[in-house]
Amino acid sequence: MSLSDNVRSRMTEGSWVRRMFEQGISLKKRLGEENVFDLSLGNPVMEPPPEFEKELSRLVNSPAPGMHRYMENAGYLETRTAVAGQLSRETGIEFKAGDIVMTCGAAGGMNVVLKTILNPGDEIGVFAPYFMEFRNYIDNHGGVTRIVPTDQYFLPKLDVLDAVITPKTKGVIINSPNNPTGVVYSGEVVREIGELLRAKEAKQGTQIFLISDEAYRKIMYDDLEYEFVFHHYRNSIAINSHSKDLALPGERIGYVAIHPECSHREELVDGFVFCNRILGFVNAPALMQNVLRNLQGVTVSIAEYQKKRDFLYRNLVEMGYSVVRPGGAFYLFPESPLEDDVAFVNELLQLNVLVVPGRGFGAPGYFRVSYCVNDRTIEGSLAGLKEAAQKFNLC
Ligand SMILES: Cc1ncc(COP(=O)(O)O)c(C=O)c1O
Repeated sequence: MSLSDNVRSRMTEGSWVRRMFEQGISLKKRLGEENVFDLSLGNPVMEPPPEFEKELSRLVNSPAPGMHRYMENAGYLETRTAVAGQLSRETGIEFKAGDIVMTCGAAGGMNVVLKTILNPGDEIGVFAPYFMEFRNYIDNHGGVTRIVPTDQYFLPKLDVLDAVITPKTKGVIINSPNNPTGVVYSGEVVREIGELLRAKEAKQGTQIFLISDEAYRKIMYDDLEYEFVFHHYRNSIAINSHSKDLALPGERIGYVAIHPECSHREELVDGFVFCNRILGFVNAPALMQNVLRNLQGVTVSIAEYQKKRDFLYRNLVEMGYSVVRPGGAFYLFPESPLEDDVAFVNELLQLNVLVVPGRGFGAPGYFRVSYCVNDRTIEGSLAGLKEAAQKFNLC
C-alpha cells in the first residue's frame, strides 16, 4: 500500500467538484466543448482587471534588484502595510502590518491558521452547506470537524451552534458570501454569533476563534454591505483571497488578518509566520505581493457577475426551481427536484449540463450551479435545466 490510510480514504470520499470536472472532460471530448454547458467549477472566466495587467507590465519591464529573492515569511512589509491600510479604511479599526500575514491564497491561509491553533482532537464548527475543503484542512492538522446545520435560508441557527460548542472547540468557521449558497450574513447574524462565542468563552474559560473565510468578500450585489467579524468579536481571524475579486486563482495570493485586539495576538502571528514556513509555503509569491501593493481597492466587474446572477436566478425560478436568492459569490444552490441529488445531477449530465450535487457540500437534496462562466455557457444550459424541470414536474 503506497498511500496512507487517511489520504486513501479522503481521496475515495473525494471531491464532487473534481468528479464533475472529470466527467465534463470526457463529455467535452465526446460532444465537443461547445455542446457541453459546464456550471460545475468556481474558476472565474473573467480576466483580471486592466489595472492588474498594467502593474504587472510595469514591474516586469523595470525589475527591481532582488525582487525574486526570499523575504520575511510573513511577506513584504510594504505589501502588508498596504493591506493593513486598506483594511483600516474599510473597517474603521486600525490594522498594522504586524496584523497581516501574506499567504498562498485563502487555502494556504486557512491551513496556516488551523496548523497554528489546533491540538489533536480539537474541534472546529463548520456551518453546512460548506466549502468541502474545510473538512480536509481541519483533518490536515489533527482537528475534528463539527458540522452545524443551518436553517432553510442557509443561515446559522444559534441554538444548534450553542449545542455544538464544547470545551474542545477551538474555532468556528464562517464563510460569507458563501460557497455554495451565495448567502451573505447580515450584521445581526454576525453579532449574534459573536455574542454566543463570547458567552461560551466566559463560561468555559477557553479561547474560541471566529475564523472568517472572506474569499468572496468583494463579490456582493444589491448594494449589500460587507459585515466584518472584526466589528463583532475580538478573537477573530479573517482569511482573504484574490482568486475571485481579482480573478487570480492560479497565482495563489491571499492573506490572513487578525483582530488587533485578539488575545495572544503576537504569539498567534508568530505562529502563523512559522506555519507559513513549515507547511512549505515559505512565503506568498513575491511577484504577486509586489503587484498587489498598488491594487488595494481594485476588483473585477461586480456588475457583470450581478447580471449573470439576475439572469440565471430569474430563469431558474421561472422553470420552477426552488432557490434562495444569493446576495454574493457566484453560485446558486437550488433544491434538487429528486431527493437523490446525485441522480438529478446525472439527469442533467444526460442533457449536457454539469452541476455539482449538494452532498459534496454537506447538503444532500440540493445542487450547486456556478455562474462564473461566459454568458454563452449560461444561456446554453437553460434548455437542459428546463427539460429536467419539466421531466420532474416543477413547472
Ligand atoms: C469558500 C472558499 N474559500 C477558499 C477558497 C480557496 O481560495 P484560494 O484560491 O484563495 O485558495 C475557495 C475557492 O473556491 C472558496 O470557495
